[in-house]
Amino acid sequence: MAGLGVNIDHVATVRQARQTVEPDPVWAAVEAELGGADCITFHLRQDRRHIIDRDVRLLREVVRVKLNMEMSLAEEIVQIALELKPDQATLVPENRQEVTTEGGLDVAGQSRRIRDVTRALQNAGVTVSAFIDPEPDQVRACQEVGCDAIEIHTGRYANAWLLHGSEGRDRQVRSALQEIRRAVQAGLDAGLVVHGGHGLTYRNIAPVAAIEGFTEFNIGHSIVSRAVFVGLRSAVAEMKRLIQ
Ligand code: PXP
Repeated sequence: MAGLGVNIDHVATVRQARQTVEPDPVWAAVEAELGGADCITFHLRQDRRHIIDRDVRLLREVVRVKLNMEMSLAEEIVQIALELKPDQATLVPENRQEVTTEGGLDVAGQSRRIRDVTRALQNAGVTVSAFIDPEPDQVRACQEVGCDAIEIHTGRYANAWLLHGSEGRDRQVRSALQEIRRAVQAGLDAGLVVHGGHGLTYRNIAPVAAIEGFTEFNIGHSIVSRAVFVGLRSAVAEMKRLIQ
């Protein structure tokens, strides 16, 4: 059964909107653990838009489940990861203008840099995953550069799900699910651990969670959105129930 990684970036986004000290993403990590999270995920961006360096240090001390750091390939961030030693690093693309991570990492297109970063992290005891679009070439590239895991970008499926009432919506959802299924299988065939994430919600998680082969889902926005109304502990517990 797949585990749940809770991405706490959005708690930090609310704090940074006022440049103040609350809500604290470190408290959020503790609440998420109490709700049954198997992993706490954060993204230390170069622009420090949400998670800041102080959070990262405290998260490393406080989090008792797996700590997963989403990170770009920027040298500054790689150095921080090497010192911090999260349990897992997930390599993601980063673009200053984006609202959220928009697409998967082009592993095939920058394999030399990714191989070097992957080796350095692994030598520091960090498991390395790469966030990729559900494309067989990208899965193969992850295997070639020595990644331990992949995280399959579920954004196309999530976007198709949102096309309520529009013609072709069911066909698009089915085709996106099929693409994910193939990518999971390609990952397993390549000997990689397979995670999934992006745009997953309480309404759309079930068909993805039913695909065999996933080890972990990383979910942020939907859980933090629900937590505003029911509290983070309950929101996490409910998502865990749906995955199970
Ligand atoms: N996985 C990765 C690699 C991401 O970059 C993000 C977004 O930060 C997520 C999962 C979570 O996406 P969402 O907030 O849409 O659940």
